[in-house]
Amino acid sequence: MTDQYAVFGNPIAHSKSPQIHTLFAAQTQQGMDYHSQLVGIDNFITAADKFFDNGGRGLNITVPFKQEAFNYANAISLRASVAGAVNTLIRRDDGSILGDTTDGVGLTADIVDNLGWQVKAKRVLLLGAGGAVRGVLENVLNLQPQHVVVANRSVEKALQLAKQFAEAGYILGCGLDMLDGQEFDVIINGTSASLDGQQLLLPDSLIGASGACCYDMMYGAMPTDFMQWSSSRGAEVSDGLGMLVEQAAESFYLWRGIKPRAAEVISLLRQTL
Ligand code: ATR
Repeated sequence: MTDQYAVFGNPIAHSKSPQIHTLFAAQTQQGMDYHSQLVGIDNFITAADKFFDNGGRGLNITVPFKQEAFNYANAISLRASVAGAVNTLIRRDDGSILGDTTDGVGLTADIVDNLGWQVKAKRVLLLGAGGAVRGVLENVLNLQPQHVVVANRSVEKALQLAKQFAEAGYILGCGLDMLDGQEFDVIINGTSASLDGQQLLLPDSLIGASGACCYDMMYGAMPTDFMQWSSSRGAEVSDGLGMLVEQAAESFYLWRGIKPRAAEVISLLRQTL
């Protein structure tokens, strides 16, 4: 039987993962099948057991099951343990399930390799303090920015994250309403504000005269509010489509031992948005 892979989520209909992995498989000539599966909110364990009992080789995990996947795995990678979430499950040769996360690598690969932005020694702002930001913080700090500020609507969550990651680099937490007067070189939006059609209220000071690089982890056919706000202030902007493809490329590598070329898949996908 062809090696089976899938993405579990709820909702899942709009997932681009089957398309991405099918393109990767063709590019690297891997015989595999990858499908999306809608999993009932209370059914994660049953569905995952069934998938692996039937010989499934690996899963991607998306909203809202990343925490459950973390608990489901028999072993957890160090980076997934730091992120507190799992987006990739790998069935190892002994039948045990390893949980890993590739979101952080996905973001930094897109920013550094595809966009060519410099983060080292730069002033970095991360907007939000939910799972999306927690999942990428270690990778961002590993790029050795001058400092990282995590700003969140509810200040407590930002302070908590800054405390948790204090040993990985120079990191500060604050409220979104405390940003006035501060300036940054790289700004990454990890809030879900645009999903709810809400606008972030950000002070003009964030982008100084020398410009900034602004990244939204969200993506869509149209630029997000955050991207529009940034580009109208002279920033270089990107959405998160490249992050999506790069995190998939890293999952693919974990399963198949071959790293696909993400750039051409990003361009192909861009045309279908
Ligand atoms: P995810 O796993 O996608 O990060 P999450 O854990 O629910 O989802 O976190 C969503 C993030 O977006 C949070 O940082 C949230 O701020 P709060 O912690 O204050 O709720 C942020 N967010 C969502 N809508 C927002 C809005 N309209 N303005 C500012 N921040 C918003």
